[in-house]
Amino acid sequence: MRTSPTRKVSHMEYRKLGRTGLKVSELCLGTMTFRWTSTEKQGFQVLDRAWDAGINFIDTADVYSRWAPGNSGGVAEEIIGRWMRSKPRNQVVIATKVRGRMWSGPNGEGLSRQHIMSAVEGSLRRLNTDYIDLYQTHHPDWDTPLDETLRALDDLVTAGKVRYIGASNYRAWLLMKSLWISDKSGLVRFDSIQPHYNLLNRAEVEPDLAALCLDQGIGMIPYSPLAGGFLTGKYTREHVPADARGAGNDRMARYMTEQNFALIDALAEMGQAQGKTITQMALGWMLTLPFITAPIIGANTVEQLEESLGAAGLRLSEEEMQRLDDLTGTDRNWFRR
Ligand SMILES: NC(=O)c1ccc[n+]([C@@H]2O[C@H](COP(=O)([O-])OP(=O)(O)OC[C@H]3O[C@@H](n4cnc5c(N)ncnc54)[C@H](OP(=O)(O)O)[C@@H]3O)[C@@H](O)[C@H]2O)c1
Repeated sequence: MRTSPTRKVSHMEYRKLGRTGLKVSELCLGTMTFRWTSTEKQGFQVLDRAWDAGINFIDTADVYSRWAPGNSGGVAEEIIGRWMRSKPRNQVVIATKVRGRMWSGPNGEGLSRQHIMSAVEGSLRRLNTDYIDLYQTHHPDWDTPLDETLRALDDLVTAGKVRYIGASNYRAWLLMKSLWISDKSGLVRFDSIQPHYNLLNRAEVEPDLAALCLDQGIGMIPYSPLAGGFLTGKYTREHVPADARGAGNDRMARYMTEQNFALIDALAEMGQAQGKTITQMALGWMLTLPFITAPIIGANTVEQLEESLGAAGLRLSEEEMQRLDDLTGTDRNWFRR
């Protein structure tokens, strides 16, 4: 075990994943960049530093990162599997996902019993483990009835291959329908949701999904909390960093508006007063919201990770939260019941 207690981030908090008894660090480490925009060596360094800092929660997916040239998918899971050989398995919470295309043919993707039962074996092998802590459906599969998916996941929990289940990219109505099916059929239920959520993309979560999570005790673990790098402040009115993921990316081009740059300016100003960076303030905003369990942070290098780690323990004042609501045209009155 390579932990060094002196490097622990003093404020890393552990939170219950929704209503479950599972405790996860308030920052979850994402691994989508592994062998896409970062090397395996950088991936190992990032994992080591995250672990030393007290992060016990790692997010991946079987499909990462199949879209990158020369990457056939499964690579991020393999890297984590190699890294875990030197870690106490029962202290790491591994979250992976199923749904994406992993092999050819009509059943090479999806959330059918057929695909899930084969895909889980691949994830277990690559992760070098005999159980997955949190198994998530990556996207909805409109071809498969929810009860077929939930029954397959229930069987995996009974078999001990999976401990908890979660969903990703489900809107509130679909998550609520899934909960209803689990309840009426006596099946395991989704205990977490992984949505795309950040200061530039609030409408996907607020108010419906957020209210649902608070009401039903679902843990929310949002992805892209820094809007793929925009909320670090490195994209400016004058400059797009050429070596960043967002260079030439359509979504990033849409973020480059005067309204969003005014938000960056405000984060910088509020952060300056307390020695925090734009990145840390954007993460601190999320950590302050009562329906959030843990943002999933992405980092290509230890230096990038280090900055995000500085957000652990950060909570914004009501005045700061209100200012960010005003700048993003959102109010939080819906949960002030
Ligand atoms: N469920 C899903 O459908 C889904 C989808 C996407 C992601 N995810 C999960 O969420 C995780 C995080 O997603 P994300 O990577 O989009 O998160 P993000 O936090 O919004 O963006 C992370 C990216 O921002 C840049 N960055 C981070 N810290 C920085 C710093 N200090 N200085 C400058 N640049 C910095 C880096 O990209 P550059 O260096 O290239 O700029 C980094 O890869 C993924 O790894 C994955 O586990 C899930």
